[in-house]
Amino acid sequence: MELTNEQRALIERIRQLKVQKQAIILCHNYQRPEIFEVADFIGDSLELCRKAQTVPSRLIVFCGVYFMAESAAVLNPLSKVIIPDPQAGCALSDMITEKALAERKKLYPDCAVVCYVNSTAAVKALSDVCCTSQNAVAITRALPNKQILFVPDKNLANFVALQVPEKEIIPWEGYCPIHERLTPEYLLKAKAMKPGAKIIAHPECTAEVRAIADYVVSTSGMLKIARESDATEFICTTECGMVQRLKKELPHKQFYTVCSVCFDMKKITLEKIIDSLETEQTVVSVPKETAIKAKAALDRMLELASK
Ligand code: 13P
Ligand code: SF4
Repeated sequence: MELTNEQRALIERIRQLKVQKQAIILCHNYQRPEIFEVADFIGDSLELCRKAQTVPSRLIVFCGVYFMAESAAVLNPLSKVIIPDPQAGCALSDMITEKALAERKKLYPDCAVVCYVNSTAAVKALSDVCCTSQNAVAITRALPNKQILFVPDKNLANFVALQVPEKEIIPWEGYCPIHERLTPEYLLKAKAMKPGAKIIAHPECTAEVRAIADYVVSTSGMLKIARESDATEFICTTECGMVQRLKKELPHKQFYTVCSVCFDMKKITLEKIIDSLETEQTVVSVPKETAIKAKAALDRMLELASK
């Protein structure tokens, strides 16, 4: 991507501020491409959790959506975690509340609750273990319980159910509206135009879309597959920012996309990063009781995922 002179000046200012404030910038794969230029680490939700847990930095600027910054704050209570725009939410995480989950749990007393990280800390706090799109299958398989209440994404729940048939998966009814918009018709059209390309879909896509894909993986899984595959052409079906990330890392390969935009992910801008570094706002804080319980569910995920 060609940067404008104005963007170059903003990037330079952020680099100075990072040194001055002893800050590091963690960035999700869907962020604006100019933000990749100031990031110390770019990754998917699982990689960002791992990184947040171990960085020794005094100040973490989280460029992603709120639930991701909240996980970072929970996993690293010694660092100050700030998000440049606290309005950067996630429509999927808004589809479940703590109260509704508490009610549903009463109906399924024998279930383990597996909670996709796209959820608030309060919902995580009521769950037995968290998972991300990268490790949802492995986490579910590793649990001793036969019945699993899987929240809040019904598409990811279905993806897991197909691969772990020995478990009874009870899905929550949430979904990501950005991924739900991607229809099999769009993807089949793209496939007809680029018949030699491998199709990579995110597990938040519907079952019909996933059935057409050659690979169904997390955002960083897409990068890994494209890097390691002999194929040179790929159609990625997920949020639009992912293709910018793939093009940046693998400029010698061809990427096409069937995508839609997550406007919450795009709320973070270079200007807002400067503001947040200067003012050290907005701090992401989670009430202590909630943070302890949410951390237990996140820690259990990180422990199971490393086995
Ligand atoms: P990843 O963990 O695969 O990066 O997914 C996060 C997300 O919000 C996808 O919509
Ligand atoms: Fe949430 Fe969907 Fe945006 Fe991912 S793409 S952050 S699941 S709304």
